[in-house]
Amino acid sequence: MRHILTADQFDLDLTTKLFAEADKAYETLTKGGTGAAVDPKLAGRIMYRLFYEASTRTYESFGFAATHLGMSVLGTQSVQFSSVSKGETLEDTIRMISGYDPSLIVLRSATAGDALRAAEISSVPVVNAGDGKGEHPTQSLLDLYTMHRELGRTENLHIVLGGDMANGRTARSLVKILSKYPGNRFTFVAPPTFEMGEDILAELDAKHIPCEQTTDVMEALKTADVAYWTRIQKERVSAEQTAYLEANPSAGETFSIGKAQISVMPEHARLMHPLPRVGEIKTEVDSDPRAIYFTQARYGMFVRMALIKYVLEEI
Ligand code: NCD
Repeated sequence: MRHILTADQFDLDLTTKLFAEADKAYETLTKGGTGAAVDPKLAGRIMYRLFYEASTRTYESFGFAATHLGMSVLGTQSVQFSSVSKGETLEDTIRMISGYDPSLIVLRSATAGDALRAAEISSVPVVNAGDGKGEHPTQSLLDLYTMHRELGRTENLHIVLGGDMANGRTARSLVKILSKYPGNRFTFVAPPTFEMGEDILAELDAKHIPCEQTTDVMEALKTADVAYWTRIQKERVSAEQTAYLEANPSAGETFSIGKAQISVMPEHARLMHPLPRVGEIKTEVDSDPRAIYFTQARYGMFVRMALIKYVLEEI
């Protein structure tokens, strides 16, 4: 079964195939509008979304992607009203849901490793839509696709990742996927206590991929091809991180991007964000042509259309 559990799964052949399919979906929908991308082979098949953490983009773009392909979409976004609130285990829920014969299950949960646990039980493919502090492989795929479309390449890039590197799964998966391409280098700009995890740093070191850590936002942005900003993951911060934020109330401002920060970025560079943003990118930069986070979110739907076809073995 084609489970999607980690960004490590995406090799160059697969991303090339998925991006070609995403390009096709983009053209078809942009030219033909709603209904144009319906695939008779997928009509009547069912995608089930099991979301145990807050989501707007991932939940909805998966829903739109499947609907544009002609599939039916079911699911829940509520832990409160599911049997989990009565103490049901993830394993039991997945065993039961997969028994209703969906074609795939898209899972978001609060604990790293949950997607793998689900895949071990499920009788249908499981797609990891974010597992706690773990990974967010489909986000990294759409982030990579955004670079492919906006910069024309996914290699020989200087990627500056800023914000909560410790708790942000999008940054972790993005580093993994970009590490597959030659010539990429990374700079991590995180407030103290929010630095990138040792496991990712060790992976980069083992692959001899250059990476730096700094707290100097301006200096890092000057040579960025991509600036990828993220919010503090307040639902996951540790006691030490909370203490840091309380002792440094200006940290949010120090690590935010406004007009002064974007103006030092090269003209060709792009400012990305998985969203939601909560102040770390100011609305004053939204009209700058380098700010592409809403386009990035839109690309996510086309990438997920391609990914659904891949998971269902239609491509
Ligand atoms: C991200 C996530 O859930 O990890 N959101 C998303 O899927 N676009 C980022 C975040 O919540 O900060």
